[in-house]
Amino acid sequence: MAATSPFVLRWGIISTGGIATKFVTDLLVDPKSRDAPDVVHKITAVGSRSVEKAQEFIDTVAGGDKSIKPYGSYHDVYADKDVDAIYIGTPHTFHYVNALDAIKAGKSVLCEKPVTTNLPELRALHTAAKEHNVFFMEAMWTRFQPLSLEIKRIIDQGALGDPVVLHADLSGNFDIHNLPLTHRILDPALGGGALLDLGPYPLIWAILALYEHPKNNSTKPQISSSMLKTPLTGVDSNTSFTLNFTSSSLSAQAILTCSINLNAPNPGVIIRCTRGTIIIEPPIYCPKVYILQYHDDSGKIVREEKRVFEYVGGGWHFPADEVARCVRDGKKESEVWGWDKILLEMEIFDTIRKQNDFNLPPGVEKVL
Ligand SMILES: NC(=O)c1ccc[n+]([C@@H]2O[C@H](COP(=O)([O-])OP(=O)(O)OC[C@H]3O[C@@H](n4cnc5c(N)ncnc54)[C@H](OP(=O)(O)O)[C@@H]3O)[C@@H](O)[C@H]2O)c1
Repeated sequence: MAATSPFVLRWGIISTGGIATKFVTDLLVDPKSRDAPDVVHKITAVGSRSVEKAQEFIDTVAGGDKSIKPYGSYHDVYADKDVDAIYIGTPHTFHYVNALDAIKAGKSVLCEKPVTTNLPELRALHTAAKEHNVFFMEAMWTRFQPLSLEIKRIIDQGALGDPVVLHADLSGNFDIHNLPLTHRILDPALGGGALLDLGPYPLIWAILALYEHPKNNSTKPQISSSMLKTPLTGVDSNTSFTLNFTSSSLSAQAILTCSINLNAPNPGVIIRCTRGTIIIEPPIYCPKVYILQYHDDSGKIVREEKRVFEYVGGGWHFPADEVARCVRDGKKESEVWGWDKILLEMEIFDTIRKQNDFNLPPGVEKVL
C-alpha cells in the first residue's frame, strides 16, 4: 500500500518580532522529530512594516530560503495566493485588525495570545470567520504541549480524584523601572500590563483542568479579582483572579496570579485533588516536568511519580501542527482550543478589567 503524502501547509508570517522569530524557528524543525510525519510546514511569505526587515528575517531566521517572498506590507501577504494560513505575531492591540484582514482574504488564521484586546473584538472576528468560512485559532501553545495533554488525561480519568483547588502563577521580571515606557509590556496603547500578556497562561490551566473537566459540563466560572497598577504608565503590574466553578457535579476554585515585576515561582501550577496533588514546574507555558503525589485519607503522600518530557524545538510547532491538521480535514476550529474557550478567556479578562477599572486609551480597542 502506498504511503499517504504529508499535508503541506503554506504559511504567511505577519511581523518579524520576538515571538514570530520563535514560531518560524519551530516551523523549520522536522515534524518527524516529534512524531508528526503527516504534516509539513512551508513558509511562503513574510510581511513586515518594512520590506528590508522582512528580507532580513528571511535571511537570519528562515535560513535565507529564496522561495520565501518578503513583503513590506501585511496586506500583500493576505493577498498572496501561495499562502494558506496566516500567523499573527504583532502586539495584542493589532490582533483584531490583522486577523480581520486575513479572514476577509479567506485565509486560515493562527493568532498570538491574547487573541484580541477585548471580547467585542473577538465576537466580531467570530462572526467574520463564520461568514468567510475560514479556520481560526489562538496560538495557545500551552494547551498542545505533550505534558498538558498528559495532565488532561490524568485529571479526566480521575486517578487522583476530582480537582478542588488549583493555583497557577505566571510572572516575568521585565525590569520595568529600566524599560522604555513605550515597551509593549508597559504601554497602555499596546495593551500593556500583566493580565493581557501573562494572564492567559495561569488561565489556560484553569480551563484545561476545571472548565474542560467532564463534570463541569462547560459551566462558566464566577470571577473575582484584584489589581495593582504601576504608576509608571497605569497598567497592571500584579493581578490576581479567582474563578469558582460550581456545576451540579464539580465544585472547584482556581486562584490565578500574574506579575510583570517578579520572577516565576516554582512550582508554577499546583492542582490539588481529593486523593492527590499535581505539581507542575515552570515555565508553565511550555512545562516539561510534573510530579504526581498520591495521598492516603490523612493526606500523607503514599506514592510519588515524576515525569520529564523532552522534544526537539521550542514547542511553538505543536499549535502549527494542529492548524495543519484542521485545515487538511476542512475544520473551521480546533476541537482542543476552539471558539468556546477563547470567548471565555476574553470574557474573563473583560470582567477583571471592569472590576478593577482598568481602561485602555480611547481608540485602542477597535470594537466596544
Ligand atoms: N506564545 C508565546 O509564547 C508568546 C511570547 C511572547 C509574546 N507573545 C505574544 O506575541 C505578540 C507579540 O509579542 P513580541 O514579544 O513578539 O513583540 P515584539 O518583539 O515587539 O514584536 C512585535 C512585532 O509586531 C510588529 N508591529 C506592528 N505594529 C507594531 C507597533 N505599532 N509596535 C510594535 N510592533 C509592531 C513589528 O514587526 P514588523 O516591524 O516586522 O512589522 C514587531 O516586530 C504579543 O501579543 C504577545 O502577547 C506570545
